Amino acid sequence: MDKELLIIGNWKMNLNPLEAAKYISEATSLVEEASKRNIVVGVAPTFLALTTAVYNAPEGLGIYAQNVNEHDHGAYTGEVSASMLKFANLTGAIIGHSERRQYNGETSKACNLKIKALLEQGLTPVYCVGESLETFEAGKTIEFVSEQLREGFAGLTAEEASQVVIAYEPIWAIGTGKSASIEIAEETAKQIRAILSDIFGEASSRIKILYGGSVKAENIGGYMACPNVDGALVGGASVDLESFTKVIKGAR
Ligand code: PGA
Repeated sequence: MDKELLIIGNWKMNLNPLEAAKYISEATSLVEEASKRNIVVGVAPTFLALTTAVYNAPEGLGIYAQNVNEHDHGAYTGEVSASMLKFANLTGAIIGHSERRQYNGETSKACNLKIKALLEQGLTPVYCVGESLETFEAGKTIEFVSEQLREGFAGLTAEEASQVVIAYEPIWAIGTGKSASIEIAEETAKQIRAILSDIFGEASSRIKILYGGSVKAENIGGYMACPNVDGALVGGASVDLESFTKVIKGAR
């Protein structure tokens, strides 16, 4: 049997609660197609749709938040804590997406606290890393991503680290239709694993590394066949159920 893959649809600020509920209630065959292929599938709806999504999700569909606050509770207006996500029975949360880094000033140090808060609740952090076009063209991808990894994973035990999912998403490939080549995705994933292996040893082999950035039905197969790529974070192509089902079918 081929290795298990994890494919998560990041809906971003798309699909209102009604649209999300419709999608979730019709997602049975999405999960069936995934499990036939040894793929674990999940979606990350808007906060407003999360509780209904968990309640109505077909068995096996992971439900993720798109952010979390690092504190457990208190005077943090507009924020949602990991214990609240746990209470709502979520699977995990996406952390440090490049859009949050760009528009909300999220740093890798802040991500580190969010990762710890999620792990404390037994939830899965999906930690996004990735470089800008400028950094990529300067040949500094690994240096940049390495820093994001070291800061994001600071203070974690090997056992904790093995529960974190990494999404490598080159910023220049997100929502641009310009995906990274399969060689770049594999090479970067391989280097990410080497960096983690330096820090955490054998546990790094259990860390799932996803590729993200303009993944669609037509190109996902190539990424999923890479030895160091364990899945995908899919934006645009996951917002429509039929399209996301095609992505899953194309994965292998
Ligand atoms: P995209 O987004 O698939 O639309 O490029 C990926 C992401 O931002 O996670």
